[in-house]
Amino acid sequence: MQVLTGVLNGNLTVISLDRISFGYDGRATLEGVEVTIPAGSFHFLTGPSGAGKTTLLKLIHLEHRPHKGSIALFGENIAPSDAAQRTRLRRRIGVVFQDFRLIDHMSVADNIALPLRLQGKPMATHREDVTELVEWVGLTERADALPRTLSAGEKQRAAIARAVITSPELIIADEPTGNIDAEMGMRILRLLVELNRLGKTVLVATHDLGLIRAAKSLVQARTLRLSERRLLLAASEL
Ligand SMILES: Nc1ncnc2c1ncn2[C@@H]1O[C@H](COP(=O)(O)OP(=O)(O)OP(=O)(O)O)[C@@H](O)[C@H]1O
Ligand SMILES: [Mg+2]
Repeated sequence: MQVLTGVLNGNLTVISLDRISFGYDGRATLEGVEVTIPAGSFHFLTGPSGAGKTTLLKLIHLEHRPHKGSIALFGENIAPSDAAQRTRLRRRIGVVFQDFRLIDHMSVADNIALPLRLQGKPMATHREDVTELVEWVGLTERADALPRTLSAGEKQRAAIARAVITSPELIIADEPTGNIDAEMGMRILRLLVELNRLGKTVLVATHDLGLIRAAKSLVQARTLRLSERRLLLAASEL
């Protein structure tokens, strides 16, 4: 499916965090976080509730600015005051939010198409992509439904389709299996693995160690662990 095919660009580093620190209201949440995430890789980000997983994803998505250190995305150093750069780079990232963030009064299909509209892309040329993606996530029969009538697993699949409709190179997913049963969790995981196989770089925050274990049979994934404000590479691979 063309819309899902990513571009693997040599040895490109998609995310590079250089000793970044961040906190809210004077409290340190992350300190000296360093990591390099290459193009085409699959990473899990884990750690207990409140460890800062969502915060780190927001830093990567350029929603927060680090208090110290620097971020580079797709090989470009982020200039803190360059709003145009931020907008341009964010378009290369698809985000699956912890709380879905579907628009209540829009159908599933319209929610999935929304990023295209926001980028000013003509819908006429993309209708087929939307239909294909709706089918890919198994929501063809629910395409005209409103989000409030969907199950949690269906909402999550709609959120994944919306995250990939613009063909982003990097997918970040925040607890994509948080509110769903194990079987649906595996289905979501398989969608993310498929995206990775199609060339996309995938970063998934989760405290579901069962999911990480299950993923090992599907994909070569590295696990990053947040602990006491620091980011560690999980040594034992669980
Ligand atoms: N907007 C905010 N204002 C103040 N403190 C915040 C804000 N957002 C998060 N925090 C705090 O920062 C810390 C890290 O929160 P974060 O949401 O990143 O954790 P998490 O690892 O994603 O947790 P969970 O597994 O529960 O989703 C927590 O102590 C949280 O209370
Ligand atoms: Mg979180």
